[in-house]
Amino acid sequence: MPAAEPPPPNYDETVVGRLALPDVLERPVGWARVRTAEDREDCRRQVVALFARRLYGDIPPPPEEMAVAREPVRGEPCARLTIALAHRGRRLAVDAALWLPPAARGPVPVIAGLTFLGPAGAMLSESFPIDEAAVVDGREEHGVVGRRLTEAVRGQHLGRWPAPLILAAGFGLALTCYGSWTPDDPALWEVSGLASLLGPDRGDAGALSLWAFSALRLADALARCPEVDASRIVLAGHSRLGKAALWAAANEPGIAGAIVNNSGCAGAAPSRRNFGETLAHLVHRYPHWLAPAAATAAADPASLPVDQHQLLGCIAPRPLYVASAAADLWADPEGERLAVAAAAPLWDLDGHAARLAWHLRPGGHNLTPWDWRRFLPFLKEQLAAG
Ligand code: GCU
Repeated sequence: MPAAEPPPPNYDETVVGRLALPDVLERPVGWARVRTAEDREDCRRQVVALFARRLYGDIPPPPEEMAVAREPVRGEPCARLTIALAHRGRRLAVDAALWLPPAARGPVPVIAGLTFLGPAGAMLSESFPIDEAAVVDGREEHGVVGRRLTEAVRGQHLGRWPAPLILAAGFGLALTCYGSWTPDDPALWEVSGLASLLGPDRGDAGALSLWAFSALRLADALARCPEVDASRIVLAGHSRLGKAALWAAANEPGIAGAIVNNSGCAGAAPSRRNFGETLAHLVHRYPHWLAPAAATAAADPASLPVDQHQLLGCIAPRPLYVASAAADLWADPEGERLAVAAAAPLWDLDGHAARLAWHLRPGGHNLTPWDWRRFLPFLKEQLAAG
């Protein structure tokens, strides 16, 4: 049952009121008293458990088996990875693309992302297959027809995922289509893809948790490639996939860092701020994204024991870049800025302030080379600094 229609979004700062976020150093766990890496890890686990129970549902554990096959792609400097999962006798195989910097000496750091259009959206070559089984929420002008990818998606997201720019900065790039793992469709997400593979082992995971699971499996697959430095895999995502990247990186301390772009509600924007999209809008329009328990938070965000700045804090002291866009009011850029500021003490604790970054791009909801020109020097500096 879709939730009741919420009131229209508020875009008036004067009616938002004072934002009372839980103090990141004190609540709901005593980060301020953290002395060792183990204490910090213990706090992270407790905070993640609260987010799982109240919003996203737990990310399921890895499947029983995973195999990765690899083949070259004609006309594009990338490899096709086929990630084959098996669990309790059921199977799912999903494609990803891996671009590697040609001049690399030794294993490289890799930026890994789930995307709306999949690998073909980020290349002009016609040799990478289009996943006709993927179900995505995309626009016809980008080649998505009736939630399916068509040949017309090729190259539509060259600017969102600019492989030449990323490779020139010394990073590998790995992309997979989110809809190949779990359909972005309230009628289909529970009856195909990962939900079918995992069966009851899916637990209470909503689609965002399943996409987070997918990002983590992509990272596992990359860790098996000898050219990849498994200790420097960064998750990146735009919008709903920025939410998933954030949730995945918060859960898995082995992920080296995250780039969370225009992620908004249930991403970097505080749930307690009534500006732009709220949890009530989200569960109404996308009833499959969060766990069933999120209905309570949607009705009363102040009842949550945590807010999104604390999810950002679960990535500390790893590098985190949160990016907002000035005209993307639905995603509440000012709220994202406030959440980053409220999370900052967790990086400051042991002198890692420079590993947390935020920017406000002029323009609307998108991921662009303008953003990448800022992400890449940041990641270079922070990942090399170890
Ligand atoms: C919708 C949704 C957002 C989401 C966005 C996207 O606008 O309300 O929460 O981030 O889609 O994924 O593009």
